[in-house]
Amino acid sequence: MEDAHVPPQDASVPPQNERRGISRKRLLKAALAAVPLPMLLGGVALARDAGTAQQPLTPTPFCDDGDDPTPPQIEGPYFKPDSPERTSLLEPGLPGTRLTVSGYVFGVTCRPIAHALLDFWQADTNGEYDNTGFRLRGHQFTDSRGAFTLETIVPGLYPGRTRHLHVKVQAPHEQILTTQLYFPGEPRNQTDPIFDPALLMNVRQAGPAKEATFDVVLNVGQQPTGGPTAPGGTWAAGTDYRTGDQVTYAGTTYRCRQAHTARTGWEPPSAPALWQRV
Ligand SMILES: [Fe+2]
Repeated sequence: MEDAHVPPQDASVPPQNERRGISRKRLLKAALAAVPLPMLLGGVALARDAGTAQQPLTPTPFCDDGDDPTPPQIEGPYFKPDSPERTSLLEPGLPGTRLTVSGYVFGVTCRPIAHALLDFWQADTNGEYDNTGFRLRGHQFTDSRGAFTLETIVPGLYPGRTRHLHVKVQAPHEQILTTQLYFPGEPRNQTDPIFDPALLMNVRQAGPAKEATFDVVLNVGQQPTGGPTAPGGTWAAGTDYRTGDQVTYAGTTYRCRQAHTARTGWEPPSAPALWQRV
């Protein structure tokens, strides 16, 4: 589908989000009732704050509204990050209120996950997605502490939805989490059937800009090791590979399918979206 958005002037067709959301309304009501009052008032609990609770963290819930015009081709459990690798989506002349989103990616045991992949995409300040290029789209990896930071703008509103950021998150060798991040105090949070209060960010004003924090909890039981595997071969983390480059890894030859910087945890046999066995 080129664009899942429903034009505002076409009132005869219920938005896809509404059709999909009807069955979820009761669930969301129950979820709202279960949310502690401080969270609803804007003081969102971050996963890092629960680190001493000696209890497994609650995984970040799935959330999707079908807005991704280019659903990733699934190759094994890995998705191909078509967007550019970058931590800033800002471009010269891009209008909108500056927004910084930072946080950590944890497993349910509250260990940070290094080298986790986060692929962000969002509407511009007018509520429109770039369905042909990569404006306001980008992927990045958490650092060795499991931390990430995204520089972007506050997304605009479009019919049927409250304000939101899209993100796919994946730890090496694990399943993809597709979800959305929300802004507290938005009137449409009350009426959007897809809205989930568990996905509210902490947002504060910082001069003319906004600063948001959110911790993602992936449903993985332990921190992926990502190596070392000492396999022998020419593949090396930190190398910039171009499409068509060939490497050897543990006695097997692979061809690069997409230019990228090699990272521990994304070795050729673990990343079929990036490396094709020759
Ligand atoms: Fe969306």
